[in-house]
Amino acid sequence: VGYNVGLLGLGTVGTGTAKIIMDSVGRHPLLEEISIVRVGVRNLDKARAVEFETGVVTDDLASIVTDPNIDIIVELIGGVKPALNYIMTAIEHGKHVVTANKAVISRHGDEIFTAANAKGVYVLLEAAVAGGIPVLTPLKQALGVNRINRVTGIINGTTNYILTRMKNEGVDFDEVLAEAQRLGYAEADPTADVDGFDAADKIAILASLAFGGRINLDDVYCEGIRKVTAADIAYAEKLGFTIKLLAIAQGHRPENGAMPSEIELKVHPTLLPKHHPLATVDGVNNAVLVEADPLGEVMFYGPGAGEGATASAVVSDIVAIIATLEGCSLNDKGRGNPLLRCSHEHYTRVAPMENTASRFYARILTQDRPSVIGHIGLAFGDHGVSLESVVQIDVHDRGAEIVVITHHVREGEFQTALKALLALEDVISVPSVLRVC
Ligand SMILES: NC(=O)c1ccc[n+]([C@@H]2O[C@H](COP(=O)([O-])OP(=O)(O)OC[C@H]3O[C@@H](n4cnc5c(N)ncnc54)[C@H](OP(=O)(O)O)[C@@H]3O)[C@@H](O)[C@H]2O)c1
Repeated sequence: VGYNVGLLGLGTVGTGTAKIIMDSVGRHPLLEEISIVRVGVRNLDKARAVEFETGVVTDDLASIVTDPNIDIIVELIGGVKPALNYIMTAIEHGKHVVTANKAVISRHGDEIFTAANAKGVYVLLEAAVAGGIPVLTPLKQALGVNRINRVTGIINGTTNYILTRMKNEGVDFDEVLAEAQRLGYAEADPTADVDGFDAADKIAILASLAFGGRINLDDVYCEGIRKVTAADIAYAEKLGFTIKLLAIAQGHRPENGAMPSEIELKVHPTLLPKHHPLATVDGVNNAVLVEADPLGEVMFYGPGAGEGATASAVVSDIVAIIATLEGCSLNDKGRGNPLLRCSHEHYTRVAPMENTASRFYARILTQDRPSVIGHIGLAFGDHGVSLESVVQIDVHDRGAEIVVITHHVREGEFQTALKALLALEDVISVPSVLRVC
């Protein structure tokens, strides 16, 4: 026996994937059963780092996903279209699919998994979240016997790199972004990363596994890092915090431990206490912290991108499918391997942001008057927001800078208090508001 793979895409991850499969010595013996029989690219004239026999590489990807000789399609072209069409056609033709494409899964997971379950094929996507770090497979398998209460991730390497450099060098966002673009750590169009959309795609996928229901991507609250300033990072440091772009999925379960009826799902810059396990995850690294009952806290940490790292996750999915096909026939048994297939078809409800609770950090620019701190305390207190700390950080010619950190409060109440604060005569502006973990 052997398994024929059709590879769509021979860029960074496609090349890494081919390299692992074509150099199987000292790796899992199942790798020897994999043959890459077709490879689809856009530009046939491009020089490639891996060589294939004549006729293997083609720009006719439609012919690969319908090729009766192929068992597994590995989609590594990225983007929503035409990737979605190729994945759906592959499924219709009875092929298993492995993908690294978080964009297509987070938007079209519903139709993809419904079709895959109906057809009796697997769609695996370990590489789509946190690159090389195994986190989806553990959530489905070893962690699946736990009740998951919270998943918190640093799952976008570009923003983590930018925030780390802002912290280390005391420079502002625009300067570091330009440098990151020059070095190739940030895309020419950085929106997906810096505005939090990439992290939103990934936390939607993590949440669907952690809480056993599909997620409507539009329900994920999403705030990026453009507004984070060097001043906030410096003030946060003084107060014992570091600022990270966190993606959070959490739910409060009923007493019997059943899945929560609704979950909180959000991506935003967050002040993390320096002793928090995610606070020291720096640079392009990713980490995912899972709070599971009865296991406790487990953290997955490592390279969230890169040729070899991401390819490692892709090939591990191919091997998992082959191992299952060797062990039992999906069609004979009817259900397939329940640890690999998508086991839910309903949607999970996501709480509106104003109903979620958090601590807040606010930097407030005020007139330099003795009564100011008292007035600020009252404005918050009148709206049910209690303050954990109030610190006058700086006085300059524009006024005094005061930083407050609140206790846990509902988002809606905090926003109302903020409006009342802005109406105070003493308050000139509130240049930044961030959430605190
Ligand atoms: N790079 C990472 O570290 C990383 C990490 C995690 C996940 N991912 C995900 O992995 C996937 C691939 O990323 P990548 O970085 O490898 O991308 P990439 O380097 O840009 O490679 C994309 C490949 O797909 C081919 N391609 C793109 N559109 C095509 C089309 N319409 N028709 C035919 N071929 C097409 C390209 O062909 P040509 O070579 O001819 O241009 C290229 O070989 C994406 O979904 C990405 O989000 C990447």
